[in-house]
Amino acid sequence: MRKKIIAGNWKMNMTPTESVALCETLKPLVAGADADVVFCVPAIDIIPVKEAIKGTNISLGAENVYFEDKGAFTGEISAPMLKDAGVEYVVIGHSERREYFAETDETVNKKLLKALEYGIIPIVCCGESLTQREQGITLDWIRMQIKIAFQNVTADQAKTVVIAYEPIWAIGTGKVATTEQAEEVCGGIRKCIAEIYDEATAETIRIQYGGSVNASNAAELFAQPDIDGGLVGGASLKADFSKIVKYNA
Ligand code: 13P
Repeated sequence: MRKKIIAGNWKMNMTPTESVALCETLKPLVAGADADVVFCVPAIDIIPVKEAIKGTNISLGAENVYFEDKGAFTGEISAPMLKDAGVEYVVIGHSERREYFAETDETVNKKLLKALEYGIIPIVCCGESLTQREQGITLDWIRMQIKIAFQNVTADQAKTVVIAYEPIWAIGTGKVATTEQAEEVCGGIRKCIAEIYDEATAETIRIQYGGSVNASNAAELFAQPDIDGGLVGGASLKADFSKIVKYNA
């Protein structure tokens, strides 16, 4: 049985001061959750959030990582830096990074390999646009994203990775994918992992759904056989996030 994993992606929200306040609000509310709970926070919030969640069931995540260890890459943050700061998870290849910051399947692959090298668990994002869904190429597109992202990743490494399926048209729009749509793609991703590796890897890897997840739709989504939790944007910035984390309470 795979353990559910529910991660908040704070995106570019929360000053360091606000980040600590949000942790204080959520700490008691998410305590005792059955699922793994992760806060993926802006780089500048990593240190204060690490301190604020000490001794709780919340794990620390970053929203991005660069694929080189060090050097002249102004503004970037490396995997050894994240590791040293206590980061356990990192979001890689979010559609916003692909759209606004020119990330490609190739950079996603490099970042995935670098995170794994430093023992940081990647949360790798994939997802189709509305046009691609309407063209009927959703599964083809996502299989391509997954196949490139996992180049040179071993089966043992792949078992530790988290994949987040986030249809772009459902992000921040309030337009959640139907349970059937979400399950169909998450199941398709699992099948793709089985083809690349084997059944054991496919059965172990955790696949989240993301895109307008909230307290009222989480339980139904997370009840699907291939959906192992969620990557939550807007609703992770409020006390209500605890209702998503405790969707089964
Ligand atoms: P929303 O939950 O705000 O739709 O964002 C989803 C997302 O992009 C999480 O990474």
